[in-house]
Amino acid sequence: MLNFMENLAREAGTMALEQRKHLSSAGLHFKNERDLVTDVDRQVENFIKTNISRQFPDHAILAEESGISQERGSEYLWVIDPIDGTTSFVHDMPFYSVSIALRRNGRPYAGVVYAPRLDELYRAELGKGATLNGRPIHVSARDKLVNCLAETGFACLRAGHRENNLKHFCRIAPQVRDIRRDGSAALDMAFVAAGRVDFFWEMLLQPYDIAAGEIIVLEAGGRVTDFQGGNEYPDRRGIVVSNGVIHDRVLEELALD
Ligand code: IPD
Ligand code: CA
Ligand code: CA
Repeated sequence: MLNFMENLAREAGTMALEQRKHLSSAGLHFKNERDLVTDVDRQVENFIKTNISRQFPDHAILAEESGISQERGSEYLWVIDPIDGTTSFVHDMPFYSVSIALRRNGRPYAGVVYAPRLDELYRAELGKGATLNGRPIHVSARDKLVNCLAETGFACLRAGHRENNLKHFCRIAPQVRDIRRDGSAALDMAFVAAGRVDFFWEMLLQPYDIAAGEIIVLEAGGRVTDFQGGNEYPDRRGIVVSNGVIHDRVLEELALD
């Protein structure tokens, strides 16, 4: 299963990279003023869905650009973000990824995140650990904010929201070693799994942004919760992803007004 997912993500990522060379303004569309989608997002999503449906015709699929399809009471649900980090993709910044997850009976089962510009393939399967380009990865052990590198993001819907993450950013920024905003939630989570980044938080994400990153970070020994420490992530209550040891400390900061 994981080999199928890895090959699919690699092919999809290579397709995105190739198509990026031909991207023009005609291929660029706006879901709203700031939320971009390109023809490449749609092509890559179709490619992934077609391959999954051919291989697993009974499985359900949730994909960012086309929604839920083929729901036939299957125990398996594929969750796809064809390009996570479309803004980076459009601006030719390297931090974007193809994110493909498989959930079984409503729980994380397997996931791959592939960043074609970095040629980094993160993958994990329940109970089998996580790898980056075939090498096992594990979360960091940093347990003090002052030593931590954090990742966050600002949802494209931020302009219309009073809760736009700036309050949390201003509280956390002075306390940590530094913060990155790389623009792909799936990659942000993979970076936590690899121990490069110690924690990540964001508000207003969607299931397809985080589904593959979730299993990868859990299998790498990390922790994933909402801002209250529960499991109602990632939309209304936000998401916090960490190495585990710094988690409660981050929740404390996010709880303060
Ligand atoms: C976005 C990325 C970004 C996050 C945005 C998401 P998209 O996904 O994950 O890091 O800050 O909130 O919408 O739209 O590029 O697939
Ligand atoms: Ca996304
Ligand atoms: Ca996307």
